Amino acid sequence: MTDFPLFEADRSVEVVNARMGPATNPRLREVMGVVVEHLHAIVTDARVTGEEWMAAIRFLTETGQMCSDWRQEFILLSDVLGVSMLVDAVNHDRPAGSTENTVLGPFHVPAAPRYANGANISLDAKGEPVLVHGRVLDGEGRPVAGATLDVWQANEDGFYDVQQKGIQPDWNLRGVFTSDADGRYWFRSAKPRYYPIPDDGPVGKLLAALGRHPNRAAHLHFIVMAAGYETVVTHIFTPDCQYLSEDAVFGVKPSLIADFARVDDPARAAEVGLPSPFWSVEWDMVLVATSTPAQVAA
Ligand code: BEZ
Ligand code: FE
Repeated sequence: MTDFPLFEADRSVEVVNARMGPATNPRLREVMGVVVEHLHAIVTDARVTGEEWMAAIRFLTETGQMCSDWRQEFILLSDVLGVSMLVDAVNHDRPAGSTENTVLGPFHVPAAPRYANGANISLDAKGEPVLVHGRVLDGEGRPVAGATLDVWQANEDGFYDVQQKGIQPDWNLRGVFTSDADGRYWFRSAKPRYYPIPDDGPVGKLLAALGRHPNRAAHLHFIVMAAGYETVVTHIFTPDCQYLSEDAVFGVKPSLIADFARVDDPARAAEVGLPSPFWSVEWDMVLVATSTPAQVAA
């Protein structure tokens, strides 16, 4: 029988971490060791009371109970605490000039319809029309042909289709496009507007208690994938949104704020199949080569 040390408050981390068995996976040992260290520091540094600890446990319980196939309250918690952005930052240090990542969020749906370039993904026809176009390029400015661009966004009322089943058309404001031989992609949509992250659960209550609003700066989501390149999970932000500097999930990066030009030219509008005036945003995605082949979009 191993002679483990008994619990003592002033060496609690050491006592708990000593219980890990010799066969524990080394990475699990490292991460759990740090988790225990920081958890114990929370209790000692903030002098957490028994009632406060029970409130924290109730909060985590409610967070789990809120989760379903269509709602991931733990991801929301990670997002509003800046943890999702931090995990990405410590793992992706891309060269200057390449497209940066930002939060994935809970509303990506795999296997969205694949469309030819030029398609209009705004199936509810709400909002101000926008043409989104640009190129997928490598670090040397060469076109990347055959890249998939998986796009999704909220509608004019501030909801994703999956939040309004039976109200919005299925697959509203979603689609997968493929860059052409010159790396070009283009599609029609609606200019994004700000919207609140789901705030009717424990994370929303926490935000309110902290005096924080739940709004996300207006954005369009992209996952860009191409064989031989790092997958990019990113957004395009509109430049005129009032929440740019106070996005609820800390997702805004200066390099992701685009120019949206207002085009008041009926001939051009007819050419692209939009009413006049419309918005136009030109946005290049710059990928970083990887030594391992990227997964191909579903
Ligand atoms: C989103 O942009 O879809 C999102 C991101 C984080 C939390 C909630 C929503
Ligand atoms: Fe979003």
